[in-house]
Amino acid sequence: MRDQIRSIEEDAIREIGACGGGKDIVESLRIKYLGRKGVITELFKKMGSVSAEEKRDIGGLINSLKEKVSTALNEKMALAAHSAEESGRIDVTLPGVPGRIGRIHPVTKTINEISALFISLGFRIVEGPEMETEHYNFETLNIPLEHPSRDAFDTFYLSFEKKILLRSHTSPVQTRFMEKNKPPFAIIVPGRVFRPDATDASHSFMFHQVEGLVVGENITFADLKGTLTTFARQMFGKDARMRFRPSFFPFTEPSAEVDISCIVCHGKTADKRCSMCGGKGWLEIMGAGMVNPKVFEAVGYDPVKVTGFAFGMGVERIAILKYGINDIRLFFENDVRFLRQF
Ligand code: PHE
Repeated sequence: MRDQIRSIEEDAIREIGACGGGKDIVESLRIKYLGRKGVITELFKKMGSVSAEEKRDIGGLINSLKEKVSTALNEKMALAAHSAEESGRIDVTLPGVPGRIGRIHPVTKTINEISALFISLGFRIVEGPEMETEHYNFETLNIPLEHPSRDAFDTFYLSFEKKILLRSHTSPVQTRFMEKNKPPFAIIVPGRVFRPDATDASHSFMFHQVEGLVVGENITFADLKGTLTTFARQMFGKDARMRFRPSFFPFTEPSAEVDISCIVCHGKTADKRCSMCGGKGWLEIMGAGMVNPKVFEAVGYDPVKVTGFAFGMGVERIAILKYGINDIRLFFENDVRFLRQF
């Protein structure tokens, strides 16, 4: 019996000592030795066959064996628990897993660029509501009832009775601003506009404009030309040239369509195969003109004292020209393969 106890002790201590596993393995060793049917538990059961004089000694030996084994097991268990904790610990000195970084949308990027440019010329940024009234979208801008843009096919009406609609241009912010402010001032108005156009490569029911308005004493068409030429050179390069074609807008007089020289062929060769201008040599980028006196009257300004110029450009159009994009729909599809390129 004594030999058996000694050899069990040797085996147990060796086995426990060699165990390098986790909590589960230590626990299975505890069951093996100290469990209800464990090796040491079985030794106690054999006490019945030990002679009376030996009982005390043998009992003491088994007890001390049990003590040693459970101490060894406890130590192993503590170690296993510690290393489990260790492996779950975060090493803050390791480089982090980089998150996916988003990008500025090309339309926002273009608006930011245009804004920065006009801010450097002394303009400030003003915004207005996308849900507009007929009054500001049309009436204060001298757009008569019979004008085609007022037709339900050309404007998204939210309510005919209440005369509210999604603004079809950023120009209503002109009169909204003038009603509350006195000249002189120079503002630009970036924002979303809506028109019920059938969507194709060059049309979208929603797009962005940047409106410009400068009002003061002695503001002339030359100021308009100078400002827009500076804009074009900074936006499209110092060789960019401008052309003003006579046009018509109810809220400007005189009015012009503004073209820049083609950014691909530069209008020099007037190459019929030019993919950008098709040989015209010019690209239309905005509408502009001198503020119509009727608009000044609508906001309570004296048109004899003040003059001003206004312009409105399509942001997507500018981005399309600047980045050589061939389809306006790409801006709104949220395809990251497209968006990642900017
Ligand atoms: N609002 C006009 C449009 O959307 C553009 C414009 C703005 C023209 C300001 C002249 C002056 O087409």
